[in-house]
Amino acid sequence: VGLTGTKYGCGGGGCGACTVMVSRYDPIQETVLHWSVTACLQPICSLHGAAVVTVEGIGSTKTKLHPVQERIAKAHGSQCGFCTPGMVMSMYTLLRNNPQPTTEDIRETLGGNLCRCTGYRPIIDGFKTFCNVRTVNSSNGKCCMENSNSHNNESDISGELFSMDNVLPLDPTQDLIFPPELLVSKPSERLCFQGEKVRWISPADLKDLIKLKAEYSNAPLLVGNTTIGPKMNLKGTVHPLVLYGGSIPELRTIKWRNNGVTVGAGCSLSVLKDVLLQGIEELGPEKSRVYQALVQTLQCLASKQIRNMATIGGNILSANPKYDLSSILAAAECTLHIVSNDGAREICLSEEFFTDFGKTALRPDEILLAIDIPHSRPWEFVSAFRQAQRREFSFSIVNSGMRVTFRHDSNVVENLDIFYGGVGPTLVKARHTCKELMGRKWDEKLLVVGTQLLEEEIYVPPTAPGGQEEYRKALVLSFFFKFYMQVTLELQQKEVGMNDLPLEYLSALKPFKNEVPQSSNDPVGRPNVHQAALQQATGEAVYYDDIPSVKGELFVSMVTSTRAHLLLLLNQEQAKRAAEQVDITYEDIQPVFFTIEEAIEHQSFFDPKRKLERGNLEEGFEKADHILEGELYMGGQEHFYMETQGLIAIPKGEAGELELYVASQHAAYTQEVVGITLGIDSNKITCHVKRLGGGFGGKVMKIASLSAIAATAAYKTGRAVRCVLEREDDMLITSGRSPFLGKYKVGYLNDGTILAADITYYSNGGCTLDESSFIMEKALLHMDNGYKIPNLRGHGLVCKTYLPSYTAFRGFGGPQGLTIIESVLHEVAARCGLPVRDINMYKDEKCYTHHKQLFSPHDMVRCWNECLEKSDYTHRCLSIKQFNAHNHWKKRGISIVPLKFGIGFSKGFYNQGAALVNIYKDGSVLISHGGTEMGQGINTKAIQVFQCLRSTSRRPAQETCPIIYTNVFFMTEIILFCMKDGCEKLMRRLEPLIKKHPQFTWQQLVVEAYCQKISLSATGFFMGPHTSVDWEKSDGNAYYYFTFGACCSEVEIDCLTGDHKNIRTDIVMDVGRSINPALDVGQVEGGFVQGIGLYTIEELQFSPEGVLLTRGPSRYKIPALCDIPPQLNVHLLRNADNPHAIYSSKGIGEPPVFFGCTLFFAIKEAIAAARRERGLSESFPFSSPATAEKIRMACEDCFTRMNPPDRKVKTKPWAINV
Ligand SMILES: Cc1cc2nc3c(=O)[nH]c(=O)nc-3n(C[C@H](O)[C@H](O)[C@H](O)COP(=O)(O)OP(=O)(O)OC[C@H]3O[C@@H](n4cnc5c(N)ncnc54)[C@H](O)[C@@H]3O)c2cc1C
Ligand code: FES
Ligand code: FES
Repeated sequence: VGLTGTKYGCGGGGCGACTVMVSRYDPIQETVLHWSVTACLQPICSLHGAAVVTVEGIGSTKTKLHPVQERIAKAHGSQCGFCTPGMVMSMYTLLRNNPQPTTEDIRETLGGNLCRCTGYRPIIDGFKTFCNVRTVNSSNGKCCMENSNSHNNESDISGELFSMDNVLPLDPTQDLIFPPELLVSKPSERLCFQGEKVRWISPADLKDLIKLKAEYSNAPLLVGNTTIGPKMNLKGTVHPLVLYGGSIPELRTIKWRNNGVTVGAGCSLSVLKDVLLQGIEELGPEKSRVYQALVQTLQCLASKQIRNMATIGGNILSANPKYDLSSILAAAECTLHIVSNDGAREICLSEEFFTDFGKTALRPDEILLAIDIPHSRPWEFVSAFRQAQRREFSFSIVNSGMRVTFRHDSNVVENLDIFYGGVGPTLVKARHTCKELMGRKWDEKLLVVGTQLLEEEIYVPPTAPGGQEEYRKALVLSFFFKFYMQVTLELQQKEVGMNDLPLEYLSALKPFKNEVPQSSNDPVGRPNVHQAALQQATGEAVYYDDIPSVKGELFVSMVTSTRAHLLLLLNQEQAKRAAEQVDITYEDIQPVFFTIEEAIEHQSFFDPKRKLERGNLEEGFEKADHILEGELYMGGQEHFYMETQGLIAIPKGEAGELELYVASQHAAYTQEVVGITLGIDSNKITCHVKRLGGGFGGKVMKIASLSAIAATAAYKTGRAVRCVLEREDDMLITSGRSPFLGKYKVGYLNDGTILAADITYYSNGGCTLDESSFIMEKALLHMDNGYKIPNLRGHGLVCKTYLPSYTAFRGFGGPQGLTIIESVLHEVAARCGLPVRDINMYKDEKCYTHHKQLFSPHDMVRCWNECLEKSDYTHRCLSIKQFNAHNHWKKRGISIVPLKFGIGFSKGFYNQGAALVNIYKDGSVLISHGGTEMGQGINTKAIQVFQCLRSTSRRPAQETCPIIYTNVFFMTEIILFCMKDGCEKLMRRLEPLIKKHPQFTWQQLVVEAYCQKISLSATGFFMGPHTSVDWEKSDGNAYYYFTFGACCSEVEIDCLTGDHKNIRTDIVMDVGRSINPALDVGQVEGGFVQGIGLYTIEELQFSPEGVLLTRGPSRYKIPALCDIPPQLNVHLLRNADNPHAIYSSKGIGEPPVFFGCTLFFAIKEAIAAARRERGLSESFPFSSPATAEKIRMACEDCFTRMNPPDRKVKTKPWAINV
């Protein structure tokens, strides 16, 4: 049908880009029910009788927009736009069900929609307008809408990021009606569909299903398809026959009984949650303890869309120990009702039901009909626990269900059940522990004995898939401790002779709450909406893979080496056949290694090796009172742009001409590489880049190789060739941000002054250099950040390893260079207890960087001071101290860093650009430029600048003169400069006519110019600054100018699980005089949120054989809505000018990524507080990202010490730090 609005980002339900609304008539409730679902997991055959609404169905720019589409666009919630249709459809479905949602409803609804660009705040702000909630500016208590401060007097400067004046009201009467022909409930009949590989049968009724299951017992009974679907989509599993259970009413029946509820196995998790919530309300707290525990789990299990599809039966029968429900359902002694041709039987759900990973005691011909979930009884307490990599929308690492029953009016244990998932291939019951603890009193002795018993009984094998065995073991014990505390508290309330719990211990019990981000922004400038935002919100925006297939088109798919480190000899017998038919012969080479440490051992480095130095290190160290040595490892990062890489190569059939529709940030390079590969001239290759669904540096180099492969196929076959990488392949092939290791020695005085620092930076470059040497140079050039360290030396070595080569990523080495020097400052401050950052900051009006570039730190110091003030830093430090003193198991930390970030390329020739400006006779203007639109709003700003010069209609495009590559921060400025140059040329030509005919409209003027043979076409060129660095002399103007900022973040950690919560972040950013504050704030927030991922949750794991294990959103977690601090305040520095840039604006896209490190250092502070209290050393190794595992293990305590190092079995690790 050619509807391309719905996007494909992962194919496994993990990103939400493909969200659509499915509506069905429910004959029992006699109403139409609407569900948001992920289209990638929704089998088309399951939609019989349902109506599907995609983003195109609710509104369009050609007819009428839907308010949801309008508001996300106007609130600047669409940058690259690839996630936008999914966001729109999630919100639309919510409004169809509930036209007046709460902010919590919105939070829940959007939890499964990932966005890699915006940082979520603008999306939430736009959608919150449906709740009648006004955003309150935390800094002045005023509503944002009332805050009209601006830093200059231009009348069209806006004080609000977006205005809700004149927006379309939500009018449910205008919504699409449910097709009347689907309203009738027809007598059911068996439906069969025959596809190319799969036969699908929807049975007429339960009887028919039982019969079919007996006949085809090997065919899976598919209901929600959320376990089967990802395996079929991503792992190539094929089921020749599928039986569908979604339309059997008995599987969806819910019956309340006196002592419990019977839930049909086919009930979705959303329905289950609603039913349980109703039960909790009606039954009261005592009887509903099981339901409360289940609801708590369901709240963070998967996403709204997945919960709408996934069923309780499927969750149990998938027999995946990482799935959360079995442990709690088993602890609650639930009963399974099973039917088959042989009749019905019941099984009590316990660990014995699970026979192996993915296997249960259910016979293949049996069907799980329903599950009895009992009410909790008096003196029975039930809890569920889970810890995941990300708090929501992430599989648990370990989950647990625990239940204890006491003898009436006593604290004597009558019965105890403890189940764990995630500690082995199946659900595990701590049978021995439970047995031993029965009959004992619930007191500290029980805790000690119980912990000891669990330690002995629950064994996590070091070879367990997923690794983290010590962490998982610590979680096992910590969960038991939490349960002990929870129950103790309840018993205390029942007054059964318990000792009082120390108040500071209660902190173990408070779970982190996910809240909707609130923000305050005080922008300046003209917050024009992204030029394509409405097209993006309606699904009309075209990305490369939306281009309809060309006649005779072929599809190329990649065959990757399964042994990453080997020489590859490819014997490709049938090029068009699938991957498994490609015969690969490997030839071993030795030695192979993947890590930075191993590369150092083998002295395996790329050239050039760089050094920068100022002052005299030896003298500095001699004068220092203290010398400190240490290191910081920073893991890499995957770009995870929502649109994967790809292109369409179309041979034109004439003189070897070729057209590429390609997702490239560097069209010229792509053109060049394709030309060289095919041996044809560049001028025969045209690259079209309309827009990218995110790039972040990842679509600069690797896309050129992909293009060469697809172009070769197209060239050879003479047919169009499409190549679209699957998410997993994209992550495997294209790689991302390089891991860094910084080893340092620092000398400082008692007063906190740092006299000397010597840092060696190592990056993992992978097997080819790619952009790693530039990245390393950038790291070295940023190693002073905002600090005047008189004797400073940096060495930079790019390690050559046998991993896929790393490449550019937003910040380009800057974040790594800055973080390592910040780590030095952090450690010195931790040791001397002084404001070391303040003490060492550049403060003179004229300063020189360590590469002798002159700059003024004036605005950096202003940002720093404003950030201290706006974040109320001093006061909050005191509050944090108090909080920490009163909470033993939760600790808080705060961190503030300044930022000096160089803008421009240190290689001068990159700082150039060109644009072609054509004025047409109808007055419209086409600007062709070499930048690419990937969400940063390059075209929007270009239009704004053009409007300043001469307002008219316009349509920028990136199709020609692609001599530059777009990297978010500086490119926009380059384009604006060259465009301005072109426009000014044209305006100069038109000037005499304007003077002669002042009354002419623009169009009349243009026609007159045409008649007078005045050329209406001009090229603009921008030469850029002459930057260069003499690496021998450590001397040079590396950058055009510097962007400054400061950021302060506060976090809270759970010492028992390693979970953390970002509480508040304040950013003060110097963007010069912002051309478009909405886009700039969007870039700051988006960059910062990518930084949250980089420094906290995004962990790439490699096997010891060098294979990337974390492929796809199910294993690699980018920040979701739950990771955004509830208070995120972005302030743009006022009265800041930048004489170097266009209209005094500043490059903004890259610097804020680094601000994510404030979370890392705040977490480190919080851990240090925990360690201090426990009498442990405050200096401890800690690397980025600060994952839950690392936080937990750094908060050493009796639970982590129960598995001492000498008892650890030495085995091959699951994953290595590369
Ligand atoms: C992105 C994503 C995130 C997720 N996150 C979580 C999470 O955080 N925690 C968690 O616990 N789970 C999570 N899940 C898993 C999800 O809860 C399960 O996949 C779901 O509950 C399975 O139900 P289903 O109806 O989709 O099963 P299906 O995929 O349709 O079937 C699964 C298996 O169960 C069998 N089956 C299903 N119903 C019956 C029946 N009535 N009788 C006999 N056999 C049956 C099928 O034959 C098949 O073998 C996630 C899934 C996805 C895709
Ligand atoms: S493409 Fe469907 S959820 Fe990602
Ligand atoms: S705008 Fe959300 S992914 Fe780009």
